[in-house]
Amino acid sequence: MDKICVRGGRPLSGDIVIGGAKNASLPLMAAGMLTDERLTLTNVPVLADIATMTALIAQHGVAVESQGNDSRTLSIGGAITNTEAPYDIVRKMRASILVLGPLLARVGEARVSLPGGCAIGTRPIDLHLKGLEQMGAVIRLDAGYVNATAPSGLRGAAIVLPFASVGATENIVMAATLADGQTVLANAAREPEIGDLVACLISMGARIEGAGTDRLVIEGVTKLHAATHEIVADRIETATFACATAIAGGSVRLLGGRLEHLGAVVDIMGQAGVEITQDGNALVVRRLNGLHGVDVMTAPYPGFPTDVQAQFMALMAVAEGASMLTENIFENRFMHVPELTRMGANINVHGSSAIVRGVSRLSGAQVMATDLRASVSLILAGLAAHGETTVNRVYHLDRGYEAVERKLAACGADIERVAG
Ligand code: UD1
Repeated sequence: MDKICVRGGRPLSGDIVIGGAKNASLPLMAAGMLTDERLTLTNVPVLADIATMTALIAQHGVAVESQGNDSRTLSIGGAITNTEAPYDIVRKMRASILVLGPLLARVGEARVSLPGGCAIGTRPIDLHLKGLEQMGAVIRLDAGYVNATAPSGLRGAAIVLPFASVGATENIVMAATLADGQTVLANAAREPEIGDLVACLISMGARIEGAGTDRLVIEGVTKLHAATHEIVADRIETATFACATAIAGGSVRLLGGRLEHLGAVVDIMGQAGVEITQDGNALVVRRLNGLHGVDVMTAPYPGFPTDVQAQFMALMAVAEGASMLTENIFENRFMHVPELTRMGANINVHGSSAIVRGVSRLSGAQVMATDLRASVSLILAGLAAHGETTVNRVYHLDRGYEAVERKLAACGADIERVAG
């Protein structure tokens, strides 16, 4: 398996192109199953998770085609001939559950493997299932599968999510677009990826109000039609490169980055001593003087994203003073801590909080990570470390970051991928 080798100590300077958001692309690809016409998505990132979603949709019988040599443009659509999402694909990627709503809405039945636990926590799907049941789906769990039917179609319902789950919001909204009548979804998640999904569904003919708010009102229609949609820039990739610039020092322009999608990240980074400003179509990130410890709690958007917690912890590991990072979204998302500790970080975990006492220098080491954001946090730590850091098992990294080593190397980092 490939490795990434980083030799720390070089400030970053230059431009980095921010790709389309993985977490917007996955539900948008599933949305392509809502119509027998073509949904064309542009600015799709080239990632392992996109390949997994392509395989899943294709085995439902729906064509997913890239346009010529342009693998960033995908066109999806056609008849659904198979309603089973098998364990072998779902176990690779939890977002596979996003086909459940579209399958039920379009053909009234679905058999989707339960995603099960994953490294960062148990991650149940009860909110997806309860919402769909309220819309008339009959759901039975059997042999590790969700068996769902809606023999007389889905109908609109008043649904209140007890927690603003991103995936449950997406599944329910997609299902509601083709349901009979009105669905009101309260306490909906407000992540920019959901705004992107809603915008695309509207361009496919869906009737949805409340985009960007926690109350979505969807009037079901009988059919959705062809559309073309450009995927929104990845705010997590943006925040990751902002952390990279902060930890390495220097100044970088993040092309396509959008300040309004960063939520609490801008203010927290400001308190830590990192300036992020919008300059036309780019964000300019600059480390001012020293880095300072800041307390952070992860929260649903616009709060500080759980998907940036590991990267920010790498930053706090070399900041002046102490910081407390509290993880409120996933119960087991500190697997990067022992690896950062091996690089010389001073971190103690107490329940869902980590106390980070900044050290003046990290040292390079052999490390490995068991999830996507943890992997990239180790690369970031490597940028600040003395000597060489080797990040093993970059399989996780490739699920969600496209060419991270090339983007950093182009800004002056001493980093390379070593084929294994
Ligand atoms: C999405 C993102 C992921 C991000 C997360 C939180 C995608 C493909 N993935 O994941 O990168 O970290 O949002 O911002 O967009 N929960 C339940 N029952 C449910 C659903 C969720 O208890 O039915 C819990 C989860 O266990 C977790 C919390 O709610 O503790 C948040 O999960 P959710 O917002 O659903 O995250 P995902 O959609 O899985």
